[in-house]
Formats: sequence, C-alpha cells, structure tokens
Amino acid sequence: MRDVRDSDGELLFELHIASIQTLCARSYTSEQIAAWTEGKRPELYRPPAPDHFIRVAERNGQLVGFGHVAVGRGVIVAVYVHPDHIGFGYGRIIVDDLLHLARQHGLTEVTLHSSLNAEAFYARCGFSRVELTTHRFRSGKEVSCVLMRLSLTT
Ligand SMILES: CC(C)(COP(=O)(O)OP(=O)(O)OC[C@H]1O[C@@H](n2cnc3c(N)ncnc32)[C@H](O)[C@@H]1OP(=O)(O)O)[C@@H](O)C(=O)NCCC(=O)NCCS
Repeated sequence: MRDVRDSDGELLFELHIASIQTLCARSYTSEQIAAWTEGKRPELYRPPAPDHFIRVAERNGQLVGFGHVAVGRGVIVAVYVHPDHIGFGYGRIIVDDLLHLARQHGLTEVTLHSSLNAEAFYARCGFSRVELTTHRFRSGKEVSCVLMRLSLTT
C-alpha cells in the first residue's frame, strides 16, 4: 500500500469505472450505474483536503485497488478493487490500511456507506449494519446503500 500520486489518476479512474460497472452492477440497475460513474474524472483521485488519505494497492507494480478515508469525519469514503483482482484479499488489505490511518489519527469509530454488493465484505471486515439508507448523486438520482460502523476501541 502506498499514498496516491498525481500520475495514478488515469489508471485509478479506469479501475474505479471497471469496478463499478462489473461488481456493483450485480446490485443496481444500469441507470443507477450510469449515475454512479457520471462525473468521475482522472484528476479527482487526489486527496481533497489534508485530512483525507487516498491509498493504492499494488501487485507487482500493477494497480489493483484503492481506498479513501476522511479521518476528520471518521468516514471510509471508498474501497474499490479491480474486477480482475477480487477474491485475493486486497479489499481487506485496503480496509486494514485505512483503519490503521484512522487509529493513528485517534479515531475511536469509523463509519461508511456500503454499496449493497459490498455489505457482506464489510461485515467480514468487522463492520456492523446501522441502517439501510440512500445515497444521492449530484444528478439527483438515488441508490440504496447501507450505513455501517466499526468501533476501534476493542
Ligand atoms: C467489495 C470488494 C472491495 C471486495 O474486494 P476483495 O479484494 O474481493 O475482498 P477480499 O478478497 O479482501 O475479501 C475479504 C473477505 O470478504 C469476503 N468477501 C469479499 N467480497 C464478498 C462478497 N461480495 N460477498 C461476500 N463476501 C465477500 C471474502 O470472502 C473474504 O472473506 P474471508 O475473510 O472469509 O476470507 C470488491 O468486490 C469491490 O471492489 N467491489 C466493488 C466496489 C464496491 O462496491 N466497493 C464498496 C463501495 S462502498
């Protein structure tokens, strides 16, 4: 795992779109997937503020996934693995890395909004469901997602 670099933008953009279109499409309609990918751009894979961390997972120099945590809010913003690389433990490695950063910054709890397809994954990582909720994209379109939390005190 390493910090994101400006030069990662194009590959992260492609990975992100592929992950959404392949893995999230199992739980959402094509209209919802289109709303999700709309507006994503290579230059957006940079931490938007000093308390945000975007970390990338590499395997033999190849980018296989990324994660984003906002430690100021105690929120995991994103965890995405390329569809060609799922099932090898990278998702958990990314989550563990983000949780390590959260602990380093003194957080006692983290929350996230999980896509429906990822809830079981986050449950395996120790997160508990708080409630079923909705996420609204900039376009105004909404998708169901699951608010989850993990205590870092135990
Ligand atoms: C969810 C995602 C990150 C998992 O990545 P991954 O690299 O395949 O996960 P791992 O191999 O690290 O799996 C860790 C554990 O979760 C389990 N798991 C992973 N995906 C799962 C799924 N869809 N359903 C049930 N269990 C799952 C694994 O079996 C493994 O269990 P174990 O502890 O018994 O071995 C990946 O599928 C992905 O990028 N999905 C699309 C993006 C997405 O929805 N991200 C969340 C947005 S909030």
